Amino acid sequence: MSTACAEIENTSQVIVPHGVAILEGPVRSDYLDLLAFDEKLNNFRQPDKQKAALKEIAGLPEGMVYIVRAGLKVVGYVTFLPPDRYSRWSKHPRVLELGAIEVSPDWREYKLARKLLELAFSNPVFEEYIVISIEFCWHWDLRNTGLDVWQYQKILTRLFGSVGMQQELTDDPDILEHIANVLMVRYGKRVPQEDIELFKEMLFMGK
Ligand SMILES: CC(C)(COP(=O)(O)OP(=O)(O)OC[C@H]1O[C@@H](n2cnc3c(N)ncnc32)[C@H](O)[C@@H]1OP(=O)(O)O)[C@@H](O)C(=O)NCCC(=O)NCCS
Repeated sequence: MSTACAEIENTSQVIVPHGVAILEGPVRSDYLDLLAFDEKLNNFRQPDKQKAALKEIAGLPEGMVYIVRAGLKVVGYVTFLPPDRYSRWSKHPRVLELGAIEVSPDWREYKLARKLLELAFSNPVFEEYIVISIEFCWHWDLRNTGLDVWQYQKILTRLFGSVGMQQELTDDPDILEHIANVLMVRYGKRVPQEDIELFKEMLFMGK
């Protein structure tokens, strides 16, 4: 564990009623190999499949994975990766996508998601990128939270807003597919103005 661990750039600890949660990243793919995934981390896929997906992202040149760990178990994560090559955003030179954020149900509402985003965005590399998050409402965990779609949308826009992401209107067909879907965007401080302008032009492509 020590060699893989030595590569982690940033880490912090949060004490919650279940114990100590370690927040760290970006983590390497071989480090994830050493960890189990909480069995309730199944919002997007089954934990073993999600672990494989996170390992792949951590191995991409621009991919980054930040995790919440309890001992040797991953109980939360957030991922960043280049946009899907079929999406309009992949045509932009400086867009990185926040692919997913998930905290296991037993570990929720202790501000772990908020603190994990805070830790990730303290990495200066994000100032070089426009970070987007395409929020599909069919991915939201309405069942476990008991929230309705509008309440859930509100907590997510506030959560992402806590690290400087803002909602942008767009005619991206993925977003238009449901009225509750949201595009969240964060403009890094060192993104050149022409790249910001290009991104804003790409918000509406009339398709
Ligand atoms: C969304 C999610 C990551 C939040 O994780 P979390 O660690 O519980 O979030 P936090 O404790 O940091 O809370 C963040 C904010 O949301 C609010 N919140 C979180 N869950 C809530 C709930 N069930 N009811 C009301 N508010 C809630 C918190 O009060 C907090 O608000 P504040 O900081 O403005 O006071 C978690 O619920 C989850 O994994 N959901 C399934 C996956 C998902 O929907 N991901 C988002 C789309 S990619």
